[in-house]
Amino acid sequence: MIKCTVPIIVGNWKTTPETLDIAKKFIKQLDKKISSSKTKLPKKSYLLAVTDIFIPHLNSISTRGYIGSQNVSGTGIGQVTGVNIPSQLLTGGASFTIVGHSEVRKQGETVDARAHKVTLALQSKLTTILCFGEHTRDKNGNYLSELEEDVKQTLSLVDRKLFENLIIAYEPVWAIGGNTPATASECFEVVIALRRALASLVGIDYAKKVHVLYGGAVAPDNAKNFIEEGGVDGLLIGRASQDVSKFIDIINSCYIK
Ligand code: PGA
Repeated sequence: MIKCTVPIIVGNWKTTPETLDIAKKFIKQLDKKISSSKTKLPKKSYLLAVTDIFIPHLNSISTRGYIGSQNVSGTGIGQVTGVNIPSQLLTGGASFTIVGHSEVRKQGETVDARAHKVTLALQSKLTTILCFGEHTRDKNGNYLSELEEDVKQTLSLVDRKLFENLIIAYEPVWAIGGNTPATASECFEVVIALRRALASLVGIDYAKKVHVLYGGAVAPDNAKNFIEEGGVDGLLIGRASQDVSKFIDIINSCYIK
């Protein structure tokens, strides 16, 4: 579980880097850069979602961030081959997990499966980042009500007593992996819609305080704007988190007053 300092800067390494050695060097370099930064950064300045097999190794050397997983299995303990369940990830060194990333949803993850993963992850005390995002935008703004419906459907299947360690990520699928992020105002509009959905489900107090992240083509030159103008509490970063210079530039930029 994580004590989150806002802004919450999360990297998603996906299938990079190719070897554990490169990953270890990256973490050492990153931690050194954080420690010598002229910007005042918190003790734990980043979250990094890495391939599960690297988690214990990177967790044991990382001093300035949290290491987590990119997905969890929704199966319980028992006779299932080739997956990692939340308690295994936690005791292996993960502090958090992502659930419902669009690249996982694409493989056929259903709303029920996502909700179940969130439940198991939160019960295991893994801080859980749950992703939502539209594939495309229509002129009439129907994507907003579809997103709200998705939030309500998914989270109505999760016991709200577990919501304390939940983080919501808004990741427009059309922006992920491309060069065109959402604008800060496009992001702001969706964040309002997501909070509105949460308010109707759990109440306004929770909806106001839950942390929301933006992800999709985040780069050093646009990162801070999402936090200042986009209404989010942090970022979920793919490619730019896989480059130590870009990642530290983003971290620094978000903390500069
Ligand atoms: P990107 O990916 O930053 O490379 O667009 C974001 C994500 O997949 O979470």
